[in-house]
Amino acid sequence: MSFRLQPTPPARPNRCQLFGPGSRPAIFVKMAASAADVINLDLEDSVAPSDKDSARENVIKAISDIDWGTKTLSVRINGLDTPYWYRDVVDLMEQAGNRLDQIMIPKVGNAADIYAVDALVTSIEAAKGRSKPITFEVIIESAAGIAHVEDIAAASPRLAAMSLGAADFAASMGMATTGIGGTQANYYMMHEGQKHWSDPWHWAQAAIVAACRTHGVLPVDGPFGDFSDDEGFRAQALRSATLGMVGKWAIHPKQVTLANEVFTPSEEAVAEAREILAAMEEAKAKGEGATVYKGRLVDIASIKQAEVIVRQSEMIAGS
Ligand code: COA
Ligand code: MG
Repeated sequence: MSFRLQPTPPARPNRCQLFGPGSRPAIFVKMAASAADVINLDLEDSVAPSDKDSARENVIKAISDIDWGTKTLSVRINGLDTPYWYRDVVDLMEQAGNRLDQIMIPKVGNAADIYAVDALVTSIEAAKGRSKPITFEVIIESAAGIAHVEDIAAASPRLAAMSLGAADFAASMGMATTGIGGTQANYYMMHEGQKHWSDPWHWAQAAIVAACRTHGVLPVDGPFGDFSDDEGFRAQALRSATLGMVGKWAIHPKQVTLANEVFTPSEEAVAEAREILAAMEEAKAKGEGATVYKGRLVDIASIKQAEVIVRQSEMIAGS
């Protein structure tokens, strides 16, 4: 291992991020009552241009008026290519109460995008004497975003989480698909006359996980558009969890339970991890670096793998 130790990401549960349009304040209380760890009030693409100002006002009011419990409260601002984003940041930072935790920056293309928002946020925090530093989360959803993903992950100490945004990503990459996440009808290989569907998001996900883990940022899977397809959501979420992501977005309340199930380590997984740790303790006491657990090799690397599961489970239980 490099002498530079891998930083740990924020120790907070991020299994599900529930989105809702800022222009639909009637659902805000339902969002607050949900089991999602993170709430994303949206000012960006679920809000029509004619509603941008009123959505911003709704969101600023709701941040103080609604009891958000212990959830991470995040607002998605508009992209830096729009005439709206500076007003989003200024009004949120000047007018929204201290309950606001995080700002989500969409469509980031390079580290300078984050630098620009950071400069504005830092200045307003100082001017207003805000005592709680705002954290950032970003969406990788363009060719430029994935090309510069590591610089983006390193761009600011405020950065807590990074999501893959499948729809805009597909459009930017020129992918021949209209689906938001999930496998795609034309993405298959033939083997012995049978079609085998593959995962077109795999590469982008793995790149995001690597960038995030290098810089202590939480990697998150984005939306799954077909909210009537529970099995499709579960399949995508299980893959993301297996690859190292810590959670997934919900764009409909019924997806919250699915995400929480997948991204909470199961009792069996935690029990097995603890058994591996115990087996390795025994091996170490005998001066051995490796041993056999249920017929398979476990060694010092297995301790680290098992600790990931136990730590995640303890963090969720303690939150
Ligand atoms: N959060 C909390 N509650 C929600 C909700 C959300 N995002 N979306 C819908 N609900 C509520 C509805 O108000 C309804 O409540 P009720 O039973 O008390 O009447 C219930 O959940 C069922 O809703 P349903 O009728 O199935 O959905 P809908 O037609 O009202 O809305 C969407 C469907 C997709 C338009 C809506 O879920 C939505 O806007 N999702 C978020 C979109 C978004 O933010 N996108 C940006 C990120 S990609
Ligand atoms: Mg998007």
